[in-house]
Amino acid sequence: MFNSRIRKAALATVLAGAFAGGAFAAGVPANARVTAKDVRLDATLGRAATADEVKAWNIDVRPDFQGLPPGQGSVATGTKVWEAKCAACHGDFADSNSVFPPIVGAYQATKEDIKTGRVAKLRDINDGATTIEKLSTLSTLFDYIHRAMPWNAPDSLSWDETYALVAYLMNLANVVPSNFVLTRDNVQQVQDMLPNRNGMIWNHGMWPGKEIGNGGIPDTHNTECMKNCAPTPKITSFIPEYALNNNGNLADQYRQWGPIRGMVTESKAEQEKQAKEKAAAASNPNAKVVALLKDKACLACHSLGDNKLVGPGYKEIAGKYGGKNDMVGELATRIIKGGSGTWGSIPMPPQTLSEADAKMIAQWIVDGAKQ
Ligand code: HEC
Ligand code: HEC
Repeated sequence: MFNSRIRKAALATVLAGAFAGGAFAAGVPANARVTAKDVRLDATLGRAATADEVKAWNIDVRPDFQGLPPGQGSVATGTKVWEAKCAACHGDFADSNSVFPPIVGAYQATKEDIKTGRVAKLRDINDGATTIEKLSTLSTLFDYIHRAMPWNAPDSLSWDETYALVAYLMNLANVVPSNFVLTRDNVQQVQDMLPNRNGMIWNHGMWPGKEIGNGGIPDTHNTECMKNCAPTPKITSFIPEYALNNNGNLADQYRQWGPIRGMVTESKAEQEKQAKEKAAAASNPNAKVVALLKDKACLACHSLGDNKLVGPGYKEIAGKYGGKNDMVGELATRIIKGGSGTWGSIPMPPQTLSEADAKMIAQWIVDGAKQ
C-alpha cells in the first residue's frame, strides 16, 4: 500500500484537476501578488482519503500472500470460468499466440523443474518463454488476474473465481492434478512447487558481454539502508531564478495553483514603468473601456482600429454609429444577445457581461471608440 503522504499527494492532484476550471484558491487567491518569499507548496490541497477509499485501492497480493483473502477454487470450476471469460482471447488451453505470448502454451513442468525451481528449458535463449515458465511468485497471478483481467472487464472477478483460474492454469502447466482445489491454506504449497520460483535472480547483469553490458556484473549493487540513512528526498517543482521572467511576469499569467502562482518576476524598473502606465490609464476613461474589452475577450474577434478580424473593428463600428446617442441601448442589447447580418454572415455569439458594462461600451463606440 502507498504510504499516506503519497496517497494524499495523489488525491490532491486529482482534486486540483477537478477544480482546474474555476478559480481554485488554496490559501492564495488566483491573482494574488506574492513574492519569492511567500512561495510554498499547496499543502492545503485535498483531504485525507477515507478508510473505505483506501480499502478500495488496497487490493494487492504480496509474494507472502499478504492481501489474499480466504477463498477456494477447483480446477473444474476454473475450467468453466476460463471458457466463459478468458478463452476468447487466450485460447481454450491458454495457448493462444495471436496477440501476446501464450500464458501456458505447450509448457509442461517436469519433475526436475518442480524440484529445482528453475525451468530448465529457459536456458535455451531461443525458446520463447511463456508466462508460467517465467513466473516466480504465484501471488502475481492472483494479483494480476484479479486486478486486470478479463481485459474488457478488469476488477470484476470474485476471489473464488480467481482461485479457480489460478488452479486451472497450474493444472494446465502440470503443477497440480486435475482434481485439485486451491485454497488460502495451500497456496504456499503450490508456490513451493512453482517451476520457476528460483528463477528470478539479481546477482548477474542483464547482458553477459563486454560490448553491451558490463561483463555480467549486476546493474545495481546497493543494499537497503537500515541506519543513519539519508533523509527522505523532497520532491518539488521549481523554475531556476535566472529563468523566472523568461516568459514575462508570472504574476500576470493564468496559473491556477502551484508554488509560483502570482509570483512577481519582473524587475523593479519594469514594475515601476507598468505602474506609471496604469496610473496614466486610470486618468483616461477610454482606457477603462479598453481594459474591459480585453477582460471580456472581445478583442479576440474585434480590433480596436478599423481592420476586420472575425467581426468589424471598433473604429469601423463607430463609423456607423458615431454620434447616434439613441443607438446606445440597442447596441448594448446586441452586445449581450449577439447577432448577425449587419456586418456579414459571421454571427456574433451572445456575451456574458452586465448591462451597465454593455452600455458603457456602447456609449464609448457612439463617442468614437477612442483609446
Ligand atoms: C479481451 C481479451 C482478453 C480477455 C477476455 C482476457 N485477457 Fe488476459 N490478457 C489480455 C491482454 C491484451 C493481455 C496483455 C495485457 C498487457 O500486457 O497490458 C493479457 C494478459 C494476461 C495475463 C498476463 C500475461 C503476461 O505474461 O503478462 C494473464 C495471466 C491473463 N491475461 C489472464 C487472463 C484471465 C485469467 C482471463 C479471464 C478471467 C483473461 N486473461 C481474459 C487479453 C484478455
Ligand atoms: C466570437 C467572435 C466575437 C466576440 C468574442 C465578440 N464579437 Fe462582437 N461581433 C462579432 C461579429 C462577427 C460581429 C458582426 C455581427 C453582424 O454582422 O451583425 C460583431 C458585432 C459587434 C458589434 C456591432 C453590432 C451591430 O449590430 O452593428 C458590437 C457593438 C460588438 N460586436 C461588440 C462586442 C463586444 C463588446 C464584445 C465583448 C463583450 C464582442 N463584441 C465580442 C464577433 C464577436
